[in-house]
Amino acid sequence: MSGSADALVAEVLSTGTLKGLPQGHFIGGRFVPAQSGNTMESFDPGRGRPFASFAAGDAVDVDAAVTAARKALSGPWRQMGPAARGRILAEAAALLRERAGRFAVVESLDSGKRLSEAEGDLRGVTRAFEYYAGAADKLHGDSLPLGRQYVGFTTEEPVGVAAQIIPWNYPLSTAARGIAPALAAGCTVVAKPAEQTPFTALMLAELLSAAGLPDGVLNVVTGVGAAVGAPLVAHPGINHITFTGSVATGSAVMRGAADNVTRLVLELGGKSPLVVLADCDMDAALNGVIEAIYENAGQICSAGSRLILDRSIAVPFLGRLTTRVKGFRLGHGLTNPDLGPVNSPRQLETIDAHVRRAVAAGNRVYVGGAVAKSDATGGGWFYEPTIIEAQGPDDPVVQEEIFGPVLVVQIVDGPDEALAAANATSYALVAGIYSQNITQALRFARDVDAGQVFINEWFAGGIEVPFGGNRKSGFGREKGMAGLRSYCKMKSVVARI
Ligand code: NAI
Ligand code: MG
Repeated sequence: MSGSADALVAEVLSTGTLKGLPQGHFIGGRFVPAQSGNTMESFDPGRGRPFASFAAGDAVDVDAAVTAARKALSGPWRQMGPAARGRILAEAAALLRERAGRFAVVESLDSGKRLSEAEGDLRGVTRAFEYYAGAADKLHGDSLPLGRQYVGFTTEEPVGVAAQIIPWNYPLSTAARGIAPALAAGCTVVAKPAEQTPFTALMLAELLSAAGLPDGVLNVVTGVGAAVGAPLVAHPGINHITFTGSVATGSAVMRGAADNVTRLVLELGGKSPLVVLADCDMDAALNGVIEAIYENAGQICSAGSRLILDRSIAVPFLGRLTTRVKGFRLGHGLTNPDLGPVNSPRQLETIDAHVRRAVAAGNRVYVGGAVAKSDATGGGWFYEPTIIEAQGPDDPVVQEEIFGPVLVVQIVDGPDEALAAANATSYALVAGIYSQNITQALRFARDVDAGQVFINEWFAGGIEVPFGGNRKSGFGREKGMAGLRSYCKMKSVVARI
């Protein structure tokens, strides 16, 4: 399965596809076709063409996967101690390092993201397995102070079968940040990747099997949300759901989970504020803004999609930013351009609709503002890197997630106005500030409503840092030790002695 990334890139660019992609769902430790026999196609966003087919699952396949996962809960997996589980995760990390080239090429091909970003994702995924490998045997409860007549303690038990519903923007990263802690905690898993990007989750299941994971502990069912996701959420054999995606689907998942009172973590959208104050390091802030909104063509729940900019530096800052963005090279993700395609024609239409509405309403556009068409973009789904000014706090471009390479600028006077603007949407996922005054930056961190705050480096942190949102960005936390406890149920034991 390994192979140099260069050879694989050459294969894709010359043939339009890649040999040896996984076929079928992964259930009970092996690849199986959909019981209906149905398949569907996955597309290469950089060319706008299908490159491979995969199993189009339904409720029958979901039931087979949940049955396998329930059975595995009481199999050899249950007899393994935490250290043995950790060793399997450590072996998975070692295999991921060996196979990183192939995983990154498949991730880039299926999602459209730049190869260098996919390579970065692989480093993060490997770290996730390494981190939770080390955490598996350090998950302990508390002793409870009840006085001399009692002994009281808590234990952390695996919650059971955990469902993972995964989006298309970070297919492998999102899968790993759920699967690794779930396995470390001793759960079994049924994962459902997005229908736009099914392949790397299947490759991960195969890799974990090679790392020694018993059959049925990790199952992957592919297909569309209505046919696979909804029956998975409603299945009585599921004990916990981790969902990452849109607010609308997240609230449908919450309703679906209610009938069985299934617990869940929801990681939904964002409209995250990136505050740039007058006393910032301007070079660092410019780099930060560019990464925050143009990484993965802006299709990131934690994108810095609102630049809240101090008026006293607005003209020079926007001048330099616009010049840099105008110089971006667009192209197929595997050619490592400055900006790759968006994931689907539907996403392209959504982005374009947001921007058209704003243009019709008279918003100033500094750069971009249209679907991109050129020899370099060919038949792919590309949107011009765009910077647009908001008309006020209620402007839909301020309030609505666009999920594309569109930066919205809000100009403010000083830190108090910046904080008020930062907190004025229905989302609260992440927030960031660029200021050389650390007291001012820490006051912002204290007062902003967000699950995670970045100071002087957008996306600072890694798997060690708990991640998740407030308000309509969802609830619950992934990553860090908090992410491990998401897959546990606490039991309290008290004995009279
Ligand atoms: P979505 O939320 O519908 O899809 C996410 C996952 O949920 C996919 O695996 C999908 O198959 C599954 N799903 C769909 N319907 C389901 C259902 N009824 N029950 C269970 N699972 C279901 O998001 P979509 O339609 O792909 O994108 C729409 C918008 O959502 C984007 O434009 C973006 O604004 C936002 N989004 C946010 C993400 C994030 O990272 N928070 C990721 C993807 C999309
Ligand atoms: Mg695809």
